[in-house]
Amino acid sequence: MNRARVVGTGAAVPKKVLSNADLEKLVETSDEWITTRTGIKERRIVSEGEKFSDLCTKASEIALKRSHVKPEDLDMILVGTISSDMLFPATSCLVQHNLGATKAAASDVSAACVGFLYGLHLADGLIQSNKAENVLVVGGEILSRFVDWTDRSTCVLFGDGAGAVVLQATKGDHGILGSRMKSNGAYADFICMPGGGSNRPANDPTQVEEKLPYIKMKGNETFKVAVKAMADVTSELLNEQGFTHEQIDLFIPHQANERIINAVGEKLKIAPSKVYKNIERYGNTSAASIPIALDECAREGRIRVGNLVLLTAFGAGLVWGSVLLRW
Ligand code: UT7
Repeated sequence: MNRARVVGTGAAVPKKVLSNADLEKLVETSDEWITTRTGIKERRIVSEGEKFSDLCTKASEIALKRSHVKPEDLDMILVGTISSDMLFPATSCLVQHNLGATKAAASDVSAACVGFLYGLHLADGLIQSNKAENVLVVGGEILSRFVDWTDRSTCVLFGDGAGAVVLQATKGDHGILGSRMKSNGAYADFICMPGGGSNRPANDPTQVEEKLPYIKMKGNETFKVAVKAMADVTSELLNEQGFTHEQIDLFIPHQANERIINAVGEKLKIAPSKVYKNIERYGNTSAASIPIALDECAREGRIRVGNLVLLTAFGAGLVWGSVLLRW
């Protein structure tokens, strides 16, 4: 059986840093509130003129270089995102062109903060079924363009960035061992952006006055569902694959809130030293949070060949899922 193995990682974040002190000047908030409630200290934000597809391209170029896979050898490009350059075409097509990935098919995956994991899940299916040998999976977001900068309950949370991995078909024991994705549209209104789609298109004159093209979130309700959902799906995956929590070398949960990360780690009984966090530097980068973290861990030697790495994420949809891989 073919396995999808990560052979290269890359990440790109904007240069501009927005600190909690900067946000204190924008809305009625405090460094103390943001730090204790979320764990975030600063986040990266795109400047005017910076494009989402360029961030994704940069992360992808680094991942390709490290993997020694040529762009023209890619069979598929999947970009997990909800903040593409345009409603269509897909950002993956712009990345395909930028990279010169001449034979690659390209499609975006709309699964909010779980977009990267959904991308891994799909890429794994393509590789296992011999439909692809080399797949580029990107998770990226520039949600700063969709944040209401007068709404303190959301504007302090999000940051911009992109991360990418190259997956390659191999025959050994290394690579994605299993993945589980879930959804429940009954809670679609927990996190959503009501404007800009076909229900309320951008040319609807009430868009701006009703603040429709902005992220709306029922934070507290989302928090409660997120912890249980991520812990449950991850336990199911571990049981299915016959592993216990003690065997996990590194756990990378979606970086939405430090309290959520800690609660999920505790529920799964994973030692805090094995739970990776970088939320203090980037905030919630949605689909980018896990691939950025994976890239940091790979570069800093926190993941070694043979390690068992467990990923989980949760986001708008609602969607959630978990992926287990042997590095
Ligand atoms: O990535 C996709 C998934 N997303 C998530 O999983 C996010 C899940 N939710 C969360 O992370 C948390 O619910 C938040 C960080 C969004 C909010 O934290 P919370 O502890 O749930 O706070 P809350 O919404 O219950 O608000 C508590 C208080 C409220 O004041 P009152 O009504 O108690 O007087 C808010 O108005 O905190 C107030 N508040 C703020 N105060 C200062 C809300 N935002 C801020 C702020 N600064 N930025």
